[in-house]
Amino acid sequence: MSRLVVVSNRVAVPDPTGKGSAGGLAVALREAFQAYQGIWFGWSGKVAAHPSSQPKLVDKERVQYALMDLTSLDRQEYYNGFANRALWPIMHYRIGLSEFSRADYAGYLRVNRTFATALAQMVRPDDLVWVHDYHLIPLAAEMRALGLTNRIGYFHHIPWPAPEVLGTLPGSRELLRAITDYDLVGMQTDRDADNLRRALMQEFGAAQRKADIVDLGERQTRVKGYPIGIDVRGFEQAAQRSGNHRIVRQTAAGLGSRQLIIGVDRLDYSKGIPERMEAFERFLIGNPDQRGRVTYLQITPTSRSEVPEYATLSRVVNETLGRINGSLGEPGWVPIHYVNSTYPRSVLAGLHRLAKVGLVTPMRDGMNLVAKEYVAAQNPEDPGVLVLSKFAGAAQQLTDALIVNPNDKFEVAEAIRDALYMDRTERITRWERMMNAIRETDVSWWAATFLRDLSGNKSLGRTRTQVRA
Ligand code: F6P
Repeated sequence: MSRLVVVSNRVAVPDPTGKGSAGGLAVALREAFQAYQGIWFGWSGKVAAHPSSQPKLVDKERVQYALMDLTSLDRQEYYNGFANRALWPIMHYRIGLSEFSRADYAGYLRVNRTFATALAQMVRPDDLVWVHDYHLIPLAAEMRALGLTNRIGYFHHIPWPAPEVLGTLPGSRELLRAITDYDLVGMQTDRDADNLRRALMQEFGAAQRKADIVDLGERQTRVKGYPIGIDVRGFEQAAQRSGNHRIVRQTAAGLGSRQLIIGVDRLDYSKGIPERMEAFERFLIGNPDQRGRVTYLQITPTSRSEVPEYATLSRVVNETLGRINGSLGEPGWVPIHYVNSTYPRSVLAGLHRLAKVGLVTPMRDGMNLVAKEYVAAQNPEDPGVLVLSKFAGAAQQLTDALIVNPNDKFEVAEAIRDALYMDRTERITRWERMMNAIRETDVSWWAATFLRDLSGNKSLGRTRTQVRA
């Protein structure tokens, strides 16, 4: 039976305290790994004086975690530099924020090569290899160069931009060439998949065969949309049980009769946090009767703080927050509560359930699992309303949300008002449709569908749960 070898930059080794990584990828893969046996390989998150040539192995719950340390130069060039300063902004359509450096790009390739070399010693010939996200685009090419012929799949968790945008990045042609070393490339939406196929056709004259197969002569790559999901049942149950949690109880008590609006995002410019705060400000200015009656809670764990653009964003958010709270707040009422802590699912689910409005307004997002978590956490008899950016992948599925353009604060302000005033019957109708959509494509569907396509129906080592495809 084949094993599954998952490779991602971050590896979510189970943490007995229940505090996990804030990132969507770690959460989704942790869920997916409930069902398969194998290895999860990636960066340990640690910096060491010398690079690892072999991973440190940790066996937990039938998964073997294989963890590589990076040097501080690796982290600077591969993670902070090329992945998060050059690629990330381009993938999110922010050409002006992208800072390319040849040294960073070389560091990115070097870490991919080191990972491939360590993996080559662990991977058996019939293992399926599933690589995740933009940190590791060249990994399959490096593994092929070492002679590995396994089936290798790649899932891209963030947006894939239009070819004209990607083409502005130095090195993008090489990355495109490298991505064709995967047998299967998964994207969050059909639009992202179409962008990549168009880039391959334009750059290399590839031909499109069938709907999703790109033919480059010597090899074929399948590029297809697999919208990532959440553990819907787990989130529902966590929300139902959350009422006893101290933080949830205190929040509910502090609200009194006020309505809660919630936003939960890593501190990242792609999430549109200052823009959202300004839309809320606009809502309060346009609806003075709502002052003192509504509280907006923004939960924002800090992220990538060594990258200068993130430090700048942190300042901008704090200034925007201070200005709005200072100008519109009153003794006894703070319009926006802003917290930087990371909370476990048990707390987040409870806070989502308390909130009458979920504000998910990224400027651009691959999927945005917070949108799905907000829906899953609602009370079926009295659900809240999701306000969702048209530029989140989730908007392709959650068409019953109030869909907005996050660049238009007047439009977002109006949606906040519509959400707060929406009658119960309409809220229930919209929520039921969204719930059906997220149930149909939950995280186990996502993992099983991708792996079925990658393996060509070969059987994989399963553990406890049988996964439906
Ligand atoms: O979703 C994109 C992503 O980079 C994930 O890979 C990651 O889990 C999340 O954002 C958080 O980012 P980082 O790993 O840089 O903290």
